[in-house]
Amino acid sequence: MIKIGQMLAILALLFAGSASATEWKVPFPNVPKGEGESCVRDTAFMRANHMDLLSHQRDDTVHQGVRPKQTALTECLTCHAVKDEAAKPVTYSDPKHFCRTCHDYAAVTIDCFSCHNSAPEKAKP
Ligand code: HEC
Ligand code: HEC
Ligand code: HEC
Repeated sequence: MIKIGQMLAILALLFAGSASATEWKVPFPNVPKGEGESCVRDTAFMRANHMDLLSHQRDDTVHQGVRPKQTALTECLTCHAVKDEAAKPVTYSDPKHFCRTCHDYAAVTIDCFSCHNSAPEKAKP
């Protein structure tokens, strides 16, 4: 018979496990460094929440016509541009693309770049 105390301890362990799911317990992929001093939010926040920032913003833009400047996709891609040998920013078809360094590693697929350009100068759909 499991006592209440033991059960709480087990529950606490389970929750500790799920709470740290967004942290990397395995070797971190080699993510190219962004331009400038800092991101639009701190790096740890961006690591965990960039998708929410992007999709909230998308909803605002597409559904309400709001076009804030700072977190626009173009701006992300400008600071996070990875250049090829010809000093041209690579597109999402290149595994070196900033967004792919983690996504390939974490097996994440996104459809964004079927509409949006993945090179910075023209990320507008
Ligand atoms: C002003 C330049 C700038 C802009 C604009 C910018 N970033 Fe960043 N970003 C950085 C810097 C600098 C860092 C921290 C240093 C680094 O790359 O590790 C960073 C870190 C990150 C990280 C974490 C990288 C890691 O090593 O874990 C992610 C993810 C990220 N940014 C995504 C975005 C997204 C998405 C946008 C647009 C919403 C964006 N960034 C806009 C400069 C920028
Ligand atoms: C079916 C085509 C399509 C797909 C797929 C798509 N978008 Fe968009 N996106 C648009 C259109 C159209 C707009 C509105 C552009 C405008 O009016 O300036 C937009 C606007 C945006 C904006 C705000 C404007 C800007 O340039 O920053 C962001 C951010 C954005 N999308 C991110 C995403 C992300 C992230 C994904 C993937 C999860 C995605 N989009 C997938 C068509 C698409
Ligand atoms: C620091 C590593 C890292 C970088 C760099 C990164 N991502 Fe991600 N991204 C992830 C991880 C991990 C997930 C999956 C998170 C989850 O499933 O909870 C994800 C998920 C997403 C999602 C949601 C996908 C879905 O189906 O739910 C979008 C959209 C996204 N990323 C867009 C981007 C864009 C655009 C860039 C480049 C500007 C980028 N990410 C760069 C790690 C990263």
